[in-house]
Amino acid sequence: MNALVTGANKGLGLETVRQLAQKGYHVILTARDNQKGQKALDLLQAEGLDVRFLKLDVSDDSSIHSLADQLKAEAITLDVLINNAGIHYDTFQQAQSPDFAIVDEAFAVNFTGAWKLTVALLPFLRKADLPRIVNVTSGAGGLIGMTGGTPAYSASKAALNVLTIKLSAELESEGFKVNSVCPGWVRTDMGGSAAPRSVAEGAQSIVWAADLDKDGPTGGFYRDGQRIDW
Ligand SMILES: NC(=O)c1ccc[n+]([C@@H]2O[C@H](COP(=O)([O-])OP(=O)(O)OC[C@H]3O[C@@H](n4cnc5c(N)ncnc54)[C@H](OP(=O)(O)O)[C@@H]3O)[C@@H](O)[C@H]2O)c1
Repeated sequence: MNALVTGANKGLGLETVRQLAQKGYHVILTARDNQKGQKALDLLQAEGLDVRFLKLDVSDDSSIHSLADQLKAEAITLDVLINNAGIHYDTFQQAQSPDFAIVDEAFAVNFTGAWKLTVALLPFLRKADLPRIVNVTSGAGGLIGMTGGTPAYSASKAALNVLTIKLSAELESEGFKVNSVCPGWVRTDMGGSAAPRSVAEGAQSIVWAADLDKDGPTGGFYRDGQRIDW
């Protein structure tokens, strides 16, 4: 089975590639920077894992289309798409006075990029017996209990949760599983060293939704395989 992970040169994306490959998936590790992607690929191949690297900047339409062209040229089927790439956990700003350049960038990567990529890759997913899409969102994008702060991040992740609901409803009749996952607060460059969870623990949450069987859920928001509030 084939899986593609965005933003996979480090952090949760890299670890998700590792865990999926350890489960026997053929994994396409994507990253926006060639050198960083190659370094991550070298690391995982040295562990004996079946991984390849393709360049992908999810905020760049031409990059998305180049990737789709390459998959088409190789007649690749995708069983799993993981929209993991994310930026701007903006704890330093408030909704009343944001830098809108940061808001725009957050939406371009966290939301619109994931949406555009998903639409571009639907033809490849439709060829799979059990297509699965995992949107890596965040409890910070949950509406229940949402408060001030992190405006760009929270709004873009809430929007990505909306995309999960829309796509899951529209694609359910075709057998798709589309879910949002929050990995918890994880020790990565984004999460920082004070976070309570290891990268391996956080990635397990993502891999759970990627590896669902035909009886698995669709259209939900999960952490550690358990439903959480939108
Ligand atoms: N860590 C947490 O506590 C936590 C909690 C909840 C949700 N999440 C979510 O989990 C996901 C992974 O986060 P992380 O903690 O692993 O963060 P991270 O270590 O900062 O990694 C983020 C990844 O996204 C990539 N990226 C950024 N912009 C991109 C673009 N335009 N195109 C392609 N890739 C791009 C980065 O690439 P570069 O190296 O090139 O910048 C990097 O590989 C994110 O969606 C994040 O919002 C994290």
